[in-house]
Amino acid sequence: LQSEALAALDSASDAESFEAARVQFAGQKKGALRDIQKQMGSVAGEDRKAAGMRLNEVKKSIEDAVEVAQRRLTGKDSSGADSMFDPTLPGIRPIVGHIHPITQTITHLTEIMGRMGFEAAEGPEVEDPWHNFVALNIPDDHPARDPLDNFYLATAQAAARGEEGTRLLRSQTSTVQIRVMEETQPPIRVISLGRVYRPDDPDATHFPMFHQMEGLLVDANVTMANLKTVLRVFAANYLGDDVEIRFRPSFFPFTEPSVEVDFLWDGTWIEFGGAGMVDPNVFTAVGYDPEKVSGFAFGLGVERLCMRRHGIKDIRDLYSGDLRFLSQF
Ligand code: PHE
Repeated sequence: LQSEALAALDSASDAESFEAARVQFAGQKKGALRDIQKQMGSVAGEDRKAAGMRLNEVKKSIEDAVEVAQRRLTGKDSSGADSMFDPTLPGIRPIVGHIHPITQTITHLTEIMGRMGFEAAEGPEVEDPWHNFVALNIPDDHPARDPLDNFYLATAQAAARGEEGTRLLRSQTSTVQIRVMEETQPPIRVISLGRVYRPDDPDATHFPMFHQMEGLLVDANVTMANLKTVLRVFAANYLGDDVEIRFRPSFFPFTEPSVEVDFLWDGTWIEFGGAGMVDPNVFTAVGYDPEKVSGFAFGLGVERLCMRRHGIKDIRDLYSGDLRFLSQF
């Protein structure tokens, strides 16, 4: 019986032949095993023990064969669990995302400036001309307002006509200087890190969206020396102790005097942004008395800093979404 049963179960090639074999040998009501079990009562006392053990052996081997055949045919065992699942196989590593290099840079810069007492402030990316131009001492006819140099929103025609309700994507984070001063009184020590937008054709060093780190310090008796010290300490922390800093005379409507800020790093002078002493007209625009307060402001390019530090050659790589590039950071 045992070999007959095992052969039948082993050769079962589909659900039907399997089920027939199972019922024939191991069926609960009329199976061959069941019949033999019923006859056990008639076995003589001294043989009964041996017969019982043998029966159990046969029963076990047939039940095992049923299990094996079932698994072979369905991929599931008798409890329905998926026997194809092998917990000993090595797992598939899930793809885990990580923080974008520019976001990492923003966190790092915020931390360095935080150690010098600068608090982070934010402002909207969609701005009105007051915060992007007027309060920053940029007059109506200034070329910086040119529609070709700014992303005016659909109200562009209104903008061209100088109408109310004009909005644009901010072209500089200096807007946040105004917002902070409108809301708070000196002393002020803030930075603002965020996106700015200018219609530049993308190339290795230009992108129509980039980030700036704006800094603003307002107090009594602030000098250019304070500005230079803060920027030097910042650069030493971010780029390395051996970095040197250079100011070149420049012009911005909202600072007087104004400078371009260069850092000497690895033997080359690189321009990282602009800075200067806050223009009295800006203080007047936000309701401060320019006789009583003084301050400095600066705006540095975040991509430039990040690219310098990590040896990135093309700004477009940062925004390509190419994981082969991004996953290096
Ligand atoms: N807003 C200037 C720019 O975008 C940089 C700047 C900021 C200059 C603050 C002076 C003071 O070029």
